[in-house]
Amino acid sequence: MARNGLCLPGNAPAFRATLVLSLLLLLQPIRAGHDYHDALRKSILFFEGQRSGKLPHDQRLKWRGDSALHDGSTAGVDLTGGYYDAGDNVKFGFPMAFTTTLLAWSIIDFGRVMGTEQRNAVKALRWGTDYLLKATAVPGVVFVQVGDPYSDHNCWERPEDMDTRRTVYKIDHNNPGSDVAGETAAALAAASIVFRSRDPAYSRLLLNRAVKVFEFADTHRGAYSSSLKNAVCPFYCDVNGFQDELLWGAAWLHKASRRRQYREYIVRNEVILRAGDTINEFGWDNKHAGINILISKEVLMGKSDYFESFKQNADGFICSVLPGLAHTQVQYSPGGLIFKPGGSNMQHVTSLSFLLLTYSNYLSHANKNVPCGMTSASRPSSNKLAKRQVDYILGDNPLRMSYMVGYGPRYPQRIHHRGSSLPSVQAHPARIGCKAGSRYFLSPNPNPNKLVGAVVGGPNSSDAFPDSRPYFQESEPTTYINAPLVGLLSYFAAHY
Ligand SMILES: *[C@@H]1O[C@H](CO)[C@@H](O)[C@H](O)[C@H]1NC(C)=O
Repeated sequence: MARNGLCLPGNAPAFRATLVLSLLLLLQPIRAGHDYHDALRKSILFFEGQRSGKLPHDQRLKWRGDSALHDGSTAGVDLTGGYYDAGDNVKFGFPMAFTTTLLAWSIIDFGRVMGTEQRNAVKALRWGTDYLLKATAVPGVVFVQVGDPYSDHNCWERPEDMDTRRTVYKIDHNNPGSDVAGETAAALAAASIVFRSRDPAYSRLLLNRAVKVFEFADTHRGAYSSSLKNAVCPFYCDVNGFQDELLWGAAWLHKASRRRQYREYIVRNEVILRAGDTINEFGWDNKHAGINILISKEVLMGKSDYFESFKQNADGFICSVLPGLAHTQVQYSPGGLIFKPGGSNMQHVTSLSFLLLTYSNYLSHANKNVPCGMTSASRPSSNKLAKRQVDYILGDNPLRMSYMVGYGPRYPQRIHHRGSSLPSVQAHPARIGCKAGSRYFLSPNPNPNKLVGAVVGGPNSSDAFPDSRPYFQESEPTTYINAPLVGLLSYFAAHY
Protein backbone atom coordinates (compact mmCIF):
# COMPACT_ATOMS: atom_id res chain seq x y z
CA MET A 1 0.00 0.00 0.00
CA ALA A 2 2.87 2.28 0.71
CA ARG A 3 5.08 2.48 -2.27
CA ASN A 4 3.26 4.62 -4.77
CA GLY A 5 4.44 7.84 -3.19
CA LEU A 6 8.04 6.86 -3.68
CA CYS A 7 8.09 6.75 -7.44
CA LEU A 8 9.41 10.21 -8.04
CA PRO A 9 11.57 11.01 -11.02
CA GLY A 10 15.20 10.71 -9.94
CA ASN A 11 16.00 14.22 -11.01
CA ALA A 12 12.99 15.97 -9.47
CA PRO A 13 13.77 19.65 -9.08
CA ALA A 14 16.23 20.19 -6.29
CA PHE A 15 15.09 22.17 -3.31
CA ARG A 16 16.99 24.94 -1.69
CA ALA A 17 17.75 24.51 1.97
CA THR A 18 16.31 26.93 4.45
CA LEU A 19 19.89 27.82 4.92
CA VAL A 20 20.28 29.99 7.92
CA LEU A 21 17.78 28.12 10.05
CA SER A 22 19.18 24.68 9.37
CA LEU A 23 22.68 25.88 9.91
CA LEU A 24 21.65 27.27 13.28
CA LEU A 25 19.97 24.00 14.22
CA LEU A 26 22.96 22.06 13.02
CA LEU A 27 25.21 23.99 15.32
CA GLN A 28 22.94 23.76 18.36
CA PRO A 29 24.63 22.38 21.45
CA ILE A 30 24.38 18.62 21.69
CA ARG A 31 21.63 17.53 24.03
CA ALA A 32 22.12 15.02 26.81
CA GLY A 33 23.36 11.86 25.16
CA HIS A 34 21.27 9.14 23.64
CA ASP A 35 21.60 5.47 24.38
CA TYR A 36 22.86 4.63 20.91
CA HIS A 37 23.61 1.07 21.87
CA ASP A 38 20.03 0.51 22.95
CA ALA A 39 18.83 2.04 19.68
CA LEU A 40 21.27 -0.14 17.74
CA ARG A 41 20.00 -3.31 19.42
CA LYS A 42 16.43 -2.31 18.60
CA SER A 43 17.17 -1.29 15.01
CA ILE A 44 18.41 -4.85 14.35
CA LEU A 45 15.59 -6.51 16.31
CA PHE A 46 13.15 -4.82 13.90
CA PHE A 47 14.32 -7.13 11.11
CA GLU A 48 13.01 -10.13 13.06
CA GLY A 49 9.54 -8.59 12.88
CA GLN A 50 9.81 -8.42 9.07
CA ARG A 51 10.80 -12.05 8.65
CA SER A 52 8.83 -14.21 6.27
CA GLY A 53 8.93 -18.02 6.31
CA LYS A 54 9.64 -20.44 9.11
CA LEU A 55 10.96 -18.60 12.14
CA PRO A 56 14.03 -20.06 13.88
CA HIS A 57 14.18 -21.17 17.53
CA ASP A 58 16.22 -18.13 18.51
CA GLN A 59 13.59 -15.67 17.21
CA ARG A 60 13.47 -12.92 19.84
CA LEU A 61 10.46 -10.97 18.62
CA LYS A 62 7.91 -13.39 20.03
CA TRP A 63 4.58 -12.09 18.78
CA ARG A 64 5.35 -13.11 15.18
CA GLY A 65 4.78 -16.64 13.83
CA ASP A 66 5.60 -18.66 10.71
CA SER A 67 4.14 -17.28 7.49
CA ALA A 68 4.11 -17.76 3.73
CA LEU A 69 5.42 -21.32 3.99
CA HIS A 70 4.47 -22.19 0.40
CA ASP A 71 6.00 -19.19 -1.34
CA GLY A 72 7.40 -20.26 -4.70
CA SER A 73 5.32 -23.46 -4.95
CA THR A 74 3.23 -22.15 -7.86
CA ALA A 75 6.49 -21.86 -9.83
CA GLY A 76 7.87 -25.17 -8.56
CA VAL A 77 10.62 -23.53 -6.50
CA ASP A 78 11.28 -22.78 -2.83
CA LEU A 79 11.02 -19.06 -2.18
CA THR A 80 10.23 -19.19 1.52
CA GLY A 81 12.04 -16.79 3.81
CA GLY A 82 13.26 -13.26 3.20
CA TYR A 83 11.72 -10.03 4.41
CA TYR A 84 8.45 -8.20 4.00
CA ASP A 85 9.49 -4.75 2.87
CA ALA A 86 7.29 -2.63 5.11
CA GLY A 87 3.80 -2.78 6.62
CA ASP A 88 2.40 -5.18 4.05
CA ASN A 89 3.07 -8.84 3.27
CA VAL A 90 4.60 -8.72 -0.19
CA LYS A 91 8.21 -9.74 -0.71
CA PHE A 92 9.52 -7.10 -3.09
CA GLY A 93 12.93 -8.21 -4.35
CA PHE A 94 14.29 -4.82 -5.40
CA PRO A 95 14.12 -3.10 -1.99
CA MET A 96 14.98 -6.39 -0.25
CA ALA A 97 18.23 -6.61 -2.21
CA PHE A 98 19.04 -2.96 -1.47
CA THR A 99 18.33 -3.54 2.22
CA THR A 100 20.70 -6.52 2.16
CA THR A 101 23.45 -4.51 0.45
CA LEU A 102 23.16 -1.74 3.04
CA LEU A 103 23.14 -4.17 5.95
CA ALA A 104 26.32 -5.68 4.53
CA TRP A 105 27.92 -2.24 4.08
CA SER A 106 26.97 -1.35 7.66
CA ILE A 107 28.74 -4.48 8.89
CA ILE A 108 31.78 -4.06 6.61
CA ASP A 109 32.41 -0.49 7.81
CA PHE A 110 31.12 -0.64 11.38
CA GLY A 111 31.00 -4.33 12.38
CA ARG A 112 34.21 -3.92 14.39
CA VAL A 113 32.53 -1.43 16.70
CA MET A 114 29.16 -3.20 17.05
CA GLY A 115 30.22 -5.18 20.11
CA THR A 116 27.61 -7.72 21.18
CA GLU A 117 25.26 -6.64 18.38
CA GLN A 118 27.57 -7.81 15.63
CA ARG A 119 26.19 -11.36 15.84
CA ASN A 120 22.63 -10.14 15.50
CA ALA A 121 23.49 -7.88 12.58
CA VAL A 122 25.15 -10.76 10.75
CA LYS A 123 22.05 -12.92 11.36
CA ALA A 124 19.85 -10.18 9.94
CA LEU A 125 22.08 -10.05 6.87
CA ARG A 126 22.03 -13.81 6.43
CA TRP A 127 18.24 -13.87 6.57
CA GLY A 128 18.39 -11.68 3.47
CA THR A 129 21.17 -13.54 1.62
CA ASP A 130 19.67 -17.00 2.27
CA TYR A 131 16.60 -15.75 0.44
CA LEU A 132 18.52 -14.07 -2.38
CA LEU A 133 20.39 -17.34 -2.96
CA LYS A 134 17.02 -19.08 -3.41
CA ALA A 135 15.81 -16.32 -5.71
CA THR A 136 18.88 -16.75 -7.96
CA ALA A 137 19.23 -20.56 -7.82
CA VAL A 138 18.04 -21.08 -11.42
CA PRO A 139 20.69 -19.78 -13.88
CA GLY A 140 19.40 -17.00 -16.12
CA VAL A 141 16.41 -16.30 -13.86
CA VAL A 142 15.90 -14.04 -10.86
CA PHE A 143 12.70 -14.38 -8.89
CA VAL A 144 12.05 -10.77 -8.00
CA GLN A 145 8.78 -10.72 -6.09
CA VAL A 146 6.35 -12.97 -4.26
CA GLY A 147 2.81 -11.76 -3.66
CA ASP A 148 0.30 -9.99 -5.90
CA PRO A 149 0.52 -6.45 -4.54
CA TYR A 150 -3.08 -5.54 -5.45
CA SER A 151 -4.46 -8.60 -3.74
CA ASP A 152 -2.23 -7.97 -0.70
CA HIS A 153 -2.97 -4.27 -0.38
CA ASN A 154 -6.70 -4.93 -0.63
CA CYS A 155 -6.53 -6.75 2.73
CA TRP A 156 -5.46 -5.85 6.26
CA GLU A 157 -4.24 -9.29 7.31
CA ARG A 158 -1.58 -10.78 9.53
CA PRO A 159 1.19 -12.49 7.55
CA GLU A 160 0.43 -15.63 9.57
CA ASP A 161 -3.15 -15.80 8.14
CA MET A 162 -2.37 -14.65 4.66
CA ASP A 163 -4.66 -16.01 1.95
CA THR A 164 -3.98 -13.47 -0.77
CA ARG A 165 -2.44 -14.49 -4.10
CA ARG A 166 1.24 -15.33 -3.69
CA THR A 167 2.03 -14.84 -7.35
CA VAL A 168 5.69 -15.39 -8.23
CA TYR A 169 7.32 -12.83 -10.54
CA LYS A 170 10.60 -13.39 -12.33
CA ILE A 171 12.95 -11.83 -14.83
CA ASP A 172 14.84 -13.78 -17.49
CA HIS A 173 16.51 -13.10 -20.85
CA ASN A 174 13.15 -12.37 -22.51
CA ASN A 175 12.03 -10.12 -19.66
CA PRO A 176 15.19 -8.48 -18.37
CA GLY A 177 15.66 -6.46 -15.20
CA SER A 178 19.21 -5.12 -14.89
CA ASP A 179 18.10 -2.91 -11.98
CA VAL A 180 16.91 -5.64 -9.65
CA ALA A 181 19.50 -8.15 -10.92
CA GLY A 182 22.31 -5.56 -10.54
CA GLU A 183 21.20 -4.77 -7.00
CA THR A 184 20.93 -8.48 -6.18
CA ALA A 185 24.49 -9.00 -7.46
CA ALA A 186 25.62 -6.06 -5.32
CA ALA A 187 23.95 -7.56 -2.23
CA LEU A 188 25.50 -11.00 -2.76
CA ALA A 189 28.95 -9.53 -3.42
CA ALA A 190 28.82 -7.18 -0.43
CA ALA A 191 27.66 -9.99 1.84
CA SER A 192 30.49 -12.23 0.60
CA ILE A 193 32.90 -9.75 2.21
CA VAL A 194 31.08 -10.00 5.55
CA PHE A 195 31.22 -13.80 5.51
CA ARG A 196 34.77 -14.11 4.17
CA SER A 197 36.30 -15.02 7.51
CA ARG A 198 33.08 -15.95 9.34
CA ASP A 199 32.00 -18.68 6.91
CA PRO A 200 34.39 -19.03 3.94
CA ALA A 201 32.30 -21.62 2.07
CA TYR A 202 29.17 -19.50 2.30
CA SER A 203 31.18 -16.45 1.26
CA ARG A 204 32.43 -18.23 -1.88
CA LEU A 205 28.89 -19.32 -2.72
CA LEU A 206 27.70 -15.71 -2.42
CA LEU A 207 30.52 -14.34 -4.55
CA ASN A 208 30.17 -16.95 -7.28
CA ARG A 209 26.45 -16.31 -7.43
CA ALA A 210 27.02 -12.56 -7.54
CA VAL A 211 29.33 -13.00 -10.56
CA LYS A 212 26.66 -14.99 -12.44
CA VAL A 213 23.79 -12.66 -11.55
CA PHE A 214 25.81 -9.63 -12.60
CA GLU A 215 26.67 -11.25 -15.91
CA PHE A 216 22.97 -11.88 -16.50
CA ALA A 217 22.10 -8.30 -15.52
CA ASP A 218 24.69 -6.85 -17.88
CA THR A 219 24.11 -9.18 -20.83
CA HIS A 220 20.33 -8.82 -20.88
CA ARG A 221 19.83 -5.14 -20.27
CA GLY A 222 16.53 -3.55 -19.42
CA ALA A 223 14.38 -2.17 -16.62
CA TYR A 224 12.23 -4.67 -14.72
CA SER A 225 9.38 -2.17 -14.73
CA SER A 226 9.19 -2.56 -18.51
CA SER A 227 9.13 -6.35 -18.18
CA LEU A 228 6.75 -6.71 -15.24
CA LYS A 229 4.80 -3.45 -15.59
CA ASN A 230 1.96 -3.08 -13.11
CA ALA A 231 3.13 -5.99 -10.95
CA VAL A 232 5.95 -3.74 -9.75
CA CYS A 233 4.68 -0.25 -10.62
CA PRO A 234 3.75 1.96 -8.91
CA PHE A 235 5.15 0.02 -5.96
CA TYR A 236 8.89 -0.31 -6.57
CA CYS A 237 9.00 1.05 -10.06
CA ASP A 238 12.47 1.61 -11.49
CA VAL A 239 12.09 5.28 -12.31
CA ASN A 240 15.77 6.11 -12.20
CA GLY A 241 16.91 3.57 -14.81
CA PHE A 242 19.01 0.42 -14.52
CA GLN A 243 22.39 1.97 -15.41
CA ASP A 244 23.23 2.86 -11.82
CA GLU A 245 22.62 -0.69 -10.60
CA LEU A 246 25.07 -2.03 -13.20
CA LEU A 247 27.82 0.26 -11.93
CA TRP A 248 26.80 -0.43 -8.34
CA GLY A 249 26.95 -4.21 -8.90
CA ALA A 250 30.33 -3.87 -10.59
CA ALA A 251 31.62 -1.68 -7.75
CA TRP A 252 30.72 -4.28 -5.14
CA LEU A 253 32.09 -7.12 -7.26
CA HIS A 254 35.31 -5.14 -7.69
CA LYS A 255 35.56 -4.69 -3.92
CA ALA A 256 34.68 -8.31 -3.16
CA SER A 257 36.66 -10.11 -5.86
CA ARG A 258 39.50 -7.69 -6.74
CA ARG A 259 39.23 -9.05 -10.28
CA ARG A 260 40.57 -6.72 -12.92
CA GLN A 261 37.53 -7.16 -15.15
CA TYR A 262 35.33 -5.21 -12.75
CA ARG A 263 37.78 -2.35 -12.43
CA GLU A 264 37.93 -2.19 -16.20
CA TYR A 265 34.15 -2.40 -16.45
CA ILE A 266 33.76 0.57 -14.09
CA VAL A 267 36.32 2.68 -15.92
CA ARG A 268 34.89 1.75 -19.33
CA ASN A 269 31.26 2.42 -18.34
CA GLU A 270 31.61 5.36 -16.01
CA VAL A 271 30.39 7.90 -18.56
CA ILE A 272 28.07 5.61 -20.52
CA LEU A 273 26.27 4.59 -17.34
CA ARG A 274 26.27 8.17 -16.02
CA ALA A 275 28.08 7.72 -12.70
CA GLY A 276 27.81 11.40 -11.75
CA ASP A 277 24.05 11.87 -12.25
CA THR A 278 21.54 12.87 -9.53
CA ILE A 279 24.27 12.94 -6.96
CA ASN A 280 22.17 14.06 -3.99
CA GLU A 281 20.05 10.91 -3.83
CA PHE A 282 20.58 7.44 -2.50
CA GLY A 283 17.96 4.77 -2.02
CA TRP A 284 16.45 1.58 -3.38
CA ASP A 285 15.98 3.20 -6.81
CA ASN A 286 18.97 5.51 -7.08
CA LYS A 287 22.51 4.34 -6.30
CA HIS A 288 24.52 7.23 -7.74
CA ALA A 289 25.80 8.82 -4.53
CA GLY A 290 26.54 5.39 -3.06
CA ILE A 291 28.56 4.30 -6.09
CA ASN A 292 30.78 7.35 -5.89
CA ILE A 293 31.34 7.19 -2.12
CA LEU A 294 32.11 3.47 -2.24
CA ILE A 295 34.59 3.75 -5.09
CA SER A 296 36.22 6.88 -3.64
CA LYS A 297 37.45 4.91 -0.69
CA GLU A 298 40.07 3.36 -2.96
CA VAL A 299 41.21 6.74 -4.18
CA LEU A 300 41.46 8.01 -0.60
CA MET A 301 43.31 4.90 0.55
CA GLY A 302 45.79 5.47 -2.27
CA LYS A 303 44.95 2.07 -3.73
CA SER A 304 43.84 3.29 -7.10
CA ASP A 305 44.26 6.29 -9.33
CA TYR A 306 41.78 4.97 -11.90
CA PHE A 307 38.83 6.39 -10.05
CA GLU A 308 39.72 10.03 -9.40
CA SER A 309 36.48 11.31 -11.00
CA PHE A 310 34.41 9.26 -8.56
CA LYS A 311 36.09 11.13 -5.72
CA GLN A 312 35.11 14.42 -7.36
CA ASN A 313 31.51 13.20 -7.59
CA ALA A 314 31.61 12.12 -3.95
CA ASP A 315 32.87 15.58 -2.96
CA GLY A 316 30.02 17.04 -5.01
CA PHE A 317 27.59 14.88 -3.05
CA ILE A 318 28.83 16.24 0.28
CA CYS A 319 28.58 19.82 -1.00
CA SER A 320 25.02 19.19 -2.20
CA VAL A 321 23.83 17.87 1.15
CA LEU A 322 25.54 20.05 3.76
CA PRO A 323 23.28 23.01 4.57
CA GLY A 324 24.31 26.60 4.13
CA LEU A 325 26.68 26.13 1.19
CA ALA A 326 26.39 27.66 -2.27
CA HIS A 327 25.96 24.11 -3.63
CA THR A 328 23.28 22.89 -1.22
CA GLN A 329 20.50 21.04 -3.02
CA VAL A 330 18.84 19.26 -0.15
CA GLN A 331 15.88 20.69 1.70
CA TYR A 332 15.71 20.70 5.52
CA SER A 333 12.66 20.93 7.77
CA PRO A 334 12.56 23.86 10.21
CA GLY A 335 13.59 21.36 12.92
CA GLY A 336 16.70 20.39 10.95
CA LEU A 337 15.67 17.11 9.33
CA ILE A 338 16.72 16.28 5.77
CA PHE A 339 13.50 16.34 3.80
CA LYS A 340 12.74 15.01 0.35
CA PRO A 341 9.19 15.00 -0.97
CA GLY A 342 7.51 11.75 -2.00
CA GLY A 343 6.77 9.96 1.26
CA SER A 344 8.72 7.75 3.64
CA ASN A 345 11.21 10.57 4.11
CA MET A 346 13.26 8.74 6.76
CA GLN A 347 14.68 6.49 4.03
CA HIS A 348 16.48 9.54 2.65
CA VAL A 349 17.52 10.68 6.12
CA THR A 350 19.19 7.40 7.06
CA SER A 351 20.74 6.57 3.69
CA LEU A 352 22.18 10.05 3.08
CA SER A 353 23.43 10.22 6.67
CA PHE A 354 25.08 6.85 6.22
CA LEU A 355 26.99 8.18 3.21
CA LEU A 356 27.94 11.37 5.08
CA LEU A 357 29.39 9.31 7.89
CA THR A 358 31.18 6.68 5.81
CA TYR A 359 32.74 9.31 3.55
CA SER A 360 33.78 11.35 6.54
CA ASN A 361 35.53 8.25 7.87
CA TYR A 362 37.29 7.57 4.55
CA LEU A 363 38.41 11.21 4.40
CA SER A 364 39.63 11.05 7.94
CA HIS A 365 41.89 8.07 7.16
CA ALA A 366 43.35 10.05 4.27
CA ASN A 367 43.43 13.26 6.31
CA LYS A 368 41.50 15.12 3.59
CA ASN A 369 38.70 17.68 3.43
CA VAL A 370 36.06 18.39 0.80
CA PRO A 371 36.37 21.45 -1.41
CA CYS A 372 32.97 23.07 -2.03
CA GLY A 373 33.62 26.00 -4.30
CA MET A 374 34.78 28.96 -2.24
CA THR A 375 34.36 27.12 1.04
CA SER A 376 35.78 23.90 2.27
CA ALA A 377 33.39 21.57 4.03
CA SER A 378 35.27 20.08 6.87
CA ARG A 379 35.06 16.42 7.73
CA PRO A 380 33.66 17.12 11.20
CA SER A 381 30.69 18.97 9.71
CA SER A 382 29.50 16.01 7.65
CA ASN A 383 30.01 13.71 10.62
CA LYS A 384 28.10 16.17 12.81
CA LEU A 385 25.26 16.44 10.30
CA ALA A 386 24.87 12.65 10.27
CA LYS A 387 24.74 12.66 14.07
CA ARG A 388 22.23 15.50 14.06
CA GLN A 389 19.94 13.44 11.79
CA VAL A 390 20.23 10.36 14.00
CA ASP A 391 19.56 12.46 17.10
CA TYR A 392 16.47 13.93 15.43
CA ILE A 393 15.19 10.38 14.83
CA LEU A 394 15.83 9.47 18.46
CA GLY A 395 13.99 12.48 19.93
CA ASP A 396 15.87 15.75 19.47
CA ASN A 397 13.12 17.34 17.40
CA PRO A 398 10.31 19.87 17.82
CA LEU A 399 7.80 17.19 18.93
CA ARG A 400 10.30 15.70 21.41
CA MET A 401 9.44 12.22 20.24
CA SER A 402 11.48 9.34 18.97
CA TYR A 403 10.59 7.97 15.54
CA MET A 404 11.84 4.53 16.55
CA VAL A 405 9.22 2.28 18.11
CA GLY A 406 10.19 1.26 21.64
CA TYR A 407 13.01 3.81 22.01
CA GLY A 408 12.66 6.63 24.53
CA PRO A 409 9.55 7.75 26.43
CA ARG A 410 7.47 8.84 23.37
CA TYR A 411 7.33 7.07 20.02
CA PRO A 412 4.80 6.19 17.29
CA GLN A 413 1.89 4.08 18.59
CA ARG A 414 -0.17 3.50 15.44
CA ILE A 415 2.32 2.44 12.83
CA HIS A 416 1.03 1.38 9.41
CA HIS A 417 1.95 -2.28 9.79
CA ARG A 418 -0.44 -5.18 9.52
CA GLY A 419 1.23 -7.56 11.97
CA SER A 420 1.83 -4.89 14.59
CA SER A 421 -1.70 -3.46 14.46
CA LEU A 422 -3.69 -6.70 14.54
CA PRO A 423 -3.83 -8.92 17.62
CA SER A 424 -1.00 -11.48 17.52
CA VAL A 425 -1.59 -15.14 16.67
CA GLN A 426 -0.87 -15.97 20.33
CA ALA A 427 -3.47 -13.49 21.63
CA HIS A 428 -6.02 -14.31 18.96
CA PRO A 429 -5.37 -17.73 17.41
CA ALA A 430 -8.53 -17.67 15.26
CA ARG A 431 -8.07 -16.41 11.73
CA ILE A 432 -8.78 -12.76 10.97
CA GLY A 433 -9.83 -12.52 7.33
CA CYS A 434 -8.99 -9.98 4.68
CA LYS A 435 -11.68 -7.43 5.47
CA ALA A 436 -12.10 -8.41 9.14
CA GLY A 437 -8.82 -6.61 9.75
CA SER A 438 -10.25 -3.25 8.67
CA ARG A 439 -11.60 -2.40 12.09
CA TYR A 440 -8.10 -2.70 13.54
CA PHE A 441 -6.73 -0.53 10.75
CA LEU A 442 -9.34 2.16 11.47
CA SER A 443 -9.18 1.92 15.27
CA PRO A 444 -7.81 4.96 17.14
CA ASN A 445 -6.16 2.62 19.68
CA PRO A 446 -2.41 2.04 19.83
CA ASN A 447 -1.08 -1.06 18.06
CA PRO A 448 -1.20 -4.13 20.33
CA ASN A 449 2.19 -5.52 19.20
CA LYS A 450 5.27 -3.41 19.54
CA LEU A 451 7.47 -3.69 16.45
CA VAL A 452 10.53 -2.72 18.47
CA GLY A 453 13.13 -0.81 16.49
CA ALA A 454 10.87 0.09 13.57
CA VAL A 455 11.60 3.58 12.28
CA VAL A 456 8.62 5.11 10.51
CA GLY A 457 8.45 7.35 7.42
CA GLY A 458 8.53 10.30 9.79
CA PRO A 459 7.23 13.84 10.05
CA ASN A 460 6.22 16.07 7.15
CA SER A 461 8.29 19.02 5.98
CA SER A 462 7.05 21.13 8.91
CA ASP A 463 8.06 18.56 11.53
CA ALA A 464 4.44 17.49 12.16
CA PHE A 465 3.58 13.81 12.64
CA PRO A 466 0.01 12.47 12.73
CA ASP A 467 0.77 9.06 14.37
CA SER A 468 -2.11 7.57 12.46
CA ARG A 469 -2.23 4.28 10.49
CA PRO A 470 -3.88 5.65 7.33
CA TYR A 471 -1.04 8.18 6.90
CA PHE A 472 1.25 5.52 5.51
CA GLN A 473 3.84 7.96 4.15
CA GLU A 474 4.50 9.09 7.73
CA SER A 475 3.65 6.02 9.81
CA GLU A 476 4.97 3.04 7.85
CA PRO A 477 8.36 1.48 8.67
CA THR A 478 10.52 -0.09 5.96
CA THR A 479 13.58 -2.35 5.98
CA TYR A 480 15.60 0.14 3.93
CA ILE A 481 15.10 2.88 6.51
CA ASN A 482 16.75 0.66 9.12
CA ALA A 483 19.57 -0.98 7.13
CA PRO A 484 21.82 2.10 6.96
CA LEU A 485 20.73 3.13 10.46
CA VAL A 486 22.40 -0.03 11.79
CA GLY A 487 25.76 1.32 10.60
CA LEU A 488 25.12 4.84 11.88
CA LEU A 489 24.07 3.69 15.34
CA SER A 490 27.05 1.34 15.61
CA TYR A 491 29.42 4.24 15.04
CA PHE A 492 27.70 6.63 17.44
CA ALA A 493 27.36 3.90 20.10
CA ALA A 494 31.11 3.37 19.92
CA HIS A 495 32.10 7.05 19.81
CA TYR A 496 29.67 8.82 22.20
C1 LIG B 1 2.27 19.06 8.18
O1 LIG B 1 1.24 18.54 8.98
C2 LIG B 1 0.58 19.51 9.76
C3 LIG B 1 -0.37 18.81 10.70
O2 LIG B 1 -1.18 17.92 10.02
C4 LIG B 1 -0.11 20.52 8.87
O3 LIG B 1 -0.75 21.52 9.62
C5 LIG B 1 0.93 21.15 7.96
O4 LIG B 1 0.30 21.98 7.02
C6 LIG B 1 1.72 20.07 7.21
N1 LIG B 1 2.79 20.70 6.48
C7 LIG B 1 2.96 20.53 5.18
C8 LIG B 1 4.06 21.30 4.57
O5 LIG B 1 2.27 19.78 4.52
